[in-house]
Amino acid sequence: MGYIDVAGVAHTLPDGRRLFQDVSLRVGEGAKVAFVGPSGAGKTALLRMIAGDLPVREGTIARSGGVGFMRQSVGMSFDQTTLEELALGLLTPALRAAAGLVEWAEAVMRTAERRGKFSPAATKAQRAYLDAVAGWGEVGGYEAEVLFDAVSLAVLHKPWEKAKDIPVRALSGGEQKRFALELLLRGADEVLLLDEPDNFLTVPERRWLEIRINESPKTVLFVPRHGELLAPVAGRVVEVGAGSVRVRAGGTDDQSTRSR
Ligand SMILES: Nc1ncnc2c1ncn2[C@@H]1O[C@H](COP(=O)(O)OP(=O)(O)OP(=O)(O)O)[C@@H](O)[C@H]1O
Ligand SMILES: [Mg+2]
Repeated sequence: MGYIDVAGVAHTLPDGRRLFQDVSLRVGEGAKVAFVGPSGAGKTALLRMIAGDLPVREGTIARSGGVGFMRQSVGMSFDQTTLEELALGLLTPALRAAAGLVEWAEAVMRTAERRGKFSPAATKAQRAYLDAVAGWGEVGGYEAEVLFDAVSLAVLHKPWEKAKDIPVRALSGGEQKRFALELLLRGADEVLLLDEPDNFLTVPERRWLEIRINESPKTVLFVPRHGELLAPVAGRVVEVGAGSVRVRAGGTDDQSTRSR
């Protein structure tokens, strides 16, 4: 079950500017909703609030189902972030935490083993590492690795083992976007929040995305960079701008959603 319920939400910037107010919107299971509006209107801010990435100080936002969030900045990586870090960042907090624990326990074990492979400290660290690996399995880590491999083969034509340490910046903007989108669309999260998913994509790739969003059973809220993506896909269009938010019908008749 993936739905979003936004009730009476407002957002005020640190300088006191009211970005939007009284935003109420219910997005039912499987619905597709587009957020449009001029640059700086607050589309990203609203999406981040729904993702739980920006605090909601006025009003409430209720979510059900796992939420996958693709930030606007995907496609613009210029730092040392690896593909594995990008992939883990798109997963659920439980998987991210379990992966972090495995990495940490492995580092502790290697340090302890350097001082004596069979020392009491090394034995203890080995046990902690095995526990961390078991924890990774319990939260669905192995399924995640299968998913990473499938996405890596589909987008980069490489198995995950060969791709995971590549810096994200070595990929083109479109490859970065497609990698994240394939991961979220094939993943377990029932609600996807996609900020400019069509940025950096070629026209055929945008068509591919349109089809994938359309046929996905997931609830999808997205901010299109290019308007043409939204017409056939969005059941409703949320216009963010001039301090308010207006909801209108989109390109398809969407009976599963309603606005208030
Ligand atoms: N930390 C901050 N302090 C002050 N103002 C901020 C902060 N973060 C964002 N803003 C402002 O909030 C406004 C909304 O930004 P947001 O990124 O949500 O816009 P957007 O509609 O997504 O724009 P774009 O289409 O360019 O991505 C902008 O005017 C931005 O400058
Ligand atoms: Mg934005």
